[in-house]
Amino acid sequence: MRQKFLLTGAVTFFFCASVFAESASAPVAASAKTSAGKPTQATPDNTSLQREIEQLKRQIKQLRPDITEAMLGLQIRHARLWFAGEAGDWELAAFQVHGLQDGLDGIVENYPEHAALQPERLGDILPAMMGAPMKTLRAAVDNKNKAEFERAFDGVSAACTGCHTVAGFTFLQIHRPKTSLLDNVSGTPVATSTAK
Ligand code: HEC
Repeated sequence: MRQKFLLTGAVTFFFCASVFAESASAPVAASAKTSAGKPTQATPDNTSLQREIEQLKRQIKQLRPDITEAMLGLQIRHARLWFAGEAGDWELAAFQVHGLQDGLDGIVENYPEHAALQPERLGDILPAMMGAPMKTLRAAVDNKNKAEFERAFDGVSAACTGCHTVAGFTFLQIHRPKTSLLDNVSGTPVATSTAK
């Protein structure tokens, strides 16, 4: 969230800086024409502004988390979704499906030309591979149907693995989790023992 805010701020600043750079150079060009014959005014030095823009571009790049981090986010959502569905926590499961979709959309937005998928475009291949399985999964959760959910979950996992295979990461096989590592969130209140 904070990163997103910083990124937006940096992009806005960068945009303003480039608009300023353009408008700053325009009067100089105009005055060079009108003052033909007379000694030309010294052209303002734009190199420091240019340097600043380059620095901001580098900072924007650094602010964007690596695709690996985004994938780890998908892995967490994917695992938590499974246990929510198995527990029949359909509201929580719907929330996880939403999060998974958000994560996928963010990856398309941030890495549309990622090197791992070249010559294919990640921006094209991800929606093509994940679109239908995600839709089926959403429907299964909406229907609160466990058997349907399990089938749809496997469909999504296979699509995840499919992309890893295309990207040359065949060793990243995505499947049903066996153990819940993050079991501190539930759809309904859970009795907590205070006994020591
Ligand atoms: C568009 C293709 C694509 C899709 C779809 C995709 N992945 Fe990935 N995934 C990758 C790539 C590429 C990497 C390797 C990233 C890197 O360079 O570290 C990766 C890496 C991973 C990793 C390893 C992260 C690490 O560093 O340990 C996990 C876990 C993962 N993906 C989970 C998922 C899950 C879960 C899904 C489906 C919900 C999914 N991925 C869908 C392309 C994809």
